[in-house]
Amino acid sequence: MNHFEYGPEGLACEGVPLAKIAAEVGTPVYVYSRATLERHFTVFRDALVEAGVVDPLVAYAVKANSNVAVLKVLGDLGAGADTVSEGEVRRALAAGIPGERIVFSGVGKKRDEIAFALKVGVAEINVESEPEMELIASVAAELGVRAKIAFRVNPDVAAGGHAKIATGKSENKFGVSFAEAARLYANASNNAALEPIGVACHIGSQIVDLEPMREAFTKMRGLVEKLIGESLSVERLDLGGGLGVPYFNHPEPPPPAAFAAMVAEVTKGLPVKLAFEPGRVIAANAGVMVSEVIHVHERPEGRKFLVIDAAMNDLVRPAMYDAFHDIRPVQPKSGESVYDVVGPVCETGDTFTRDRTLPPFGPGDLVAFMSAGAYGSAMASEYNTRPLIPEVLVDGDRYAVIRKRPTYDEMLARDLVPDWV
Ligand code: LLP
Repeated sequence: MNHFEYGPEGLACEGVPLAKIAAEVGTPVYVYSRATLERHFTVFRDALVEAGVVDPLVAYAVKANSNVAVLKVLGDLGAGADTVSEGEVRRALAAGIPGERIVFSGVGKKRDEIAFALKVGVAEINVESEPEMELIASVAAELGVRAKIAFRVNPDVAAGGHAKIATGKSENKFGVSFAEAARLYANASNNAALEPIGVACHIGSQIVDLEPMREAFTKMRGLVEKLIGESLSVERLDLGGGLGVPYFNHPEPPPPAAFAAMVAEVTKGLPVKLAFEPGRVIAANAGVMVSEVIHVHERPEGRKFLVIDAAMNDLVRPAMYDAFHDIRPVQPKSGESVYDVVGPVCETGDTFTRDRTLPPFGPGDLVAFMSAGAYGSAMASEYNTRPLIPEVLVDGDRYAVIRKRPTYDEMLARDLVPDWV
């Protein structure tokens, strides 16, 4: 469920018409619903609790939508943060999420980033390889602290909506091999600079079938039991993120309650706390990208291009993963026309969709790309020197710009021309 519905003034986010935001803030613009963010987080956490998972750490995956205001909305509900860079750790802290609810993951954390995470006292650093374990131990020894670590284990299970976002097979770069996990855990337990507190897995994103997750989680349960059997201390099992969302052309993903029931069943009786790292399922359907039609360009050979003011640099998912986003008119219209929806960027890849049947549009009409709250703005770039587009948060009848559009002067001021040029 989300809070984007048609009202008397067209498509609205909660109580604010998208046309009003477009007129006042300009287009393209990302618009997020606070009520939807809150609802998604609460539904996810409550489903786990109701299924019998005691005190889960729900560490929202900051990469999905990393705006500090969004993080604060979730953090105020008790969310933790799953982070993959010092920048993301800083964002989580800036949003008031305490270190003890921050998980630090990622295959290539640098020495300085590890030192920063240790100084601010993150809950766990997820170790992705043996060399990384050694690096963390050396940084912790230098700082005179014991690093709380969890081993991210690659369970060798295939899952995920697209090859570029599947992470759980042994050919993927993520995590230590399942076969090596127990040996590494035991080694770390004997290292004075390391405190292994658990194991973690994350097998992919936009997963719409619970079976691969069940398979991976069952393997992880076996690993936890093996570690405990070897008298190693295990406090936490982190089951990652990955639950898919409906993008309208996709098989219906399982609801959080079905996911939670599966988790409770697989982990029943396991004497550890559970952690989760959901990103998309919290943020995707809490946001839209609103764009304005610039031209309708009809070719005599038959194609009709809807040229809009948003481009692949603003929402890269269609170009990068052939992702489908529902496109809705902000003002409802009758009739049909078949379009290729494209942006102004100088690449054929700058195509949001081909042969999509939509209402007939003309210049100045507004379109909303649905389900754009996750991996939308967070993946945007300034390619073609297009300013990063602003973000707006709606709360009932009010809204605020939570990231402003940079001016061209601000963008150009970042380039430095040496006096010898
Ligand atoms: N935990 C880890 C270790 C991850 O790598 C990810 C996502 C998550 C949690 C959150 O996964 P989620 O619940 O959002 O599926 N840019 C792509 C998705 C990349 C996902 C990367 N890792 C897209 O737009 O589809």
